[in-house]
Amino acid sequence: MYRIAVIGGDGIGPEVVREGLKVLEAASSKTGVKYELEQFDLGGERYLRTNEPLPDSVLEELRGFDAIYLGAVGHPEVAPGILEKGLLLRLRFELDQYINLRPVKLYPGVETPLKDKGPDEIDFVVVRENTEGLYSGMGGIQYKGTPHEVSTQIHMTTRFGAERAIRYAFEACRKRNRAKKLTLCGKTNVLTFVHDTWFRAFHEVGAVDFPDIERDYAHVDATTMWMVKNPEWFDVIVTENMFGDIITDLGAMIQGGLGVAAGGNINPEGVSMFEPIGGSAPKYTGMNVACPIAAIAAGQMLMETLGEDATAQRIERAIERALVSGKIKSLAAGRMGMSTSEVGDLIAAYAGE
Ligand code: IPM
Ligand code: MN
Repeated sequence: MYRIAVIGGDGIGPEVVREGLKVLEAASSKTGVKYELEQFDLGGERYLRTNEPLPDSVLEELRGFDAIYLGAVGHPEVAPGILEKGLLLRLRFELDQYINLRPVKLYPGVETPLKDKGPDEIDFVVVRENTEGLYSGMGGIQYKGTPHEVSTQIHMTTRFGAERAIRYAFEACRKRNRAKKLTLCGKTNVLTFVHDTWFRAFHEVGAVDFPDIERDYAHVDATTMWMVKNPEWFDVIVTENMFGDIITDLGAMIQGGLGVAAGGNINPEGVSMFEPIGGSAPKYTGMNVACPIAAIAAGQMLMETLGEDATAQRIERAIERALVSGKIKSLAAGRMGMSTSEVGDLIAAYAGE
């Protein structure tokens, strides 16, 4: 019996998570996977009421779950940074979810803005380091509000942090068993300190422990170019936190949009958290028009990470069937030709067959 914590969060989060849970239930009832859910009231509304984005006691409770299923974080009435740092990043850091795993996969039946590219060309995985880099929160502002204002934002990188992300990526590449090629995305020509650490760790770890995996390197600017021009060159990409954040939004676009892009914040030895990467989309809140497929795919990743492959595959096949059915007109919010809950019903029906 698994215990899954559910954080609907802000904006469209609760709506899309509701559909994800519907599909999870349909698939699990077939495979016999048992879990209990506990809902957590976290996000902007709670913050506005209590002034606390994440009470310590709630964090401690969350440590006791097998997984966390998250909708979205971000509220228009809360200043930028408060919920992001106080809730989402705090969960990632405190639970040491050092991997942010983001598959970029174009399913048949989904439109991509890339001309002449299809499901055969757009199918790779980004392994984003998730606890360091520019996200560390180190730095500060001195002489604020004066003409001499100075601000720093430290790109904190440890060999330990880079190496564990790199090892995870090599393993993921081996497990995927496709091109067996791992691309390090960096900026060794300018960020000559942190990316030197990454570059050496990458080659040292690869040479010693993963001789079966081809090692490839691309600067981040070139990576964005190749992602558009030749996405088929990628199998697995490993990168630091900030670059991973940026390139995975591009990845989401080429796989059909934020409505389908899912991610997992993974601690391979601890509690992992799964989320659609699209955010809270305040303008669509409560309208039942957001695409729930990313949230449903996050549920698939959750099951995969728990080792429940049959349930995960059932969810993936259900998503695939819905996407080729022609019933969903578009994956953009408000243009699906169906409501959020109707898309959830459709996929749940396939998952339960
Ligand atoms: C993401 C988001 C977050 C990030 C924000 C909301 C803090 O953009 O999950 O990609 O930058 O990691
Ligand atoms: Mn992002």
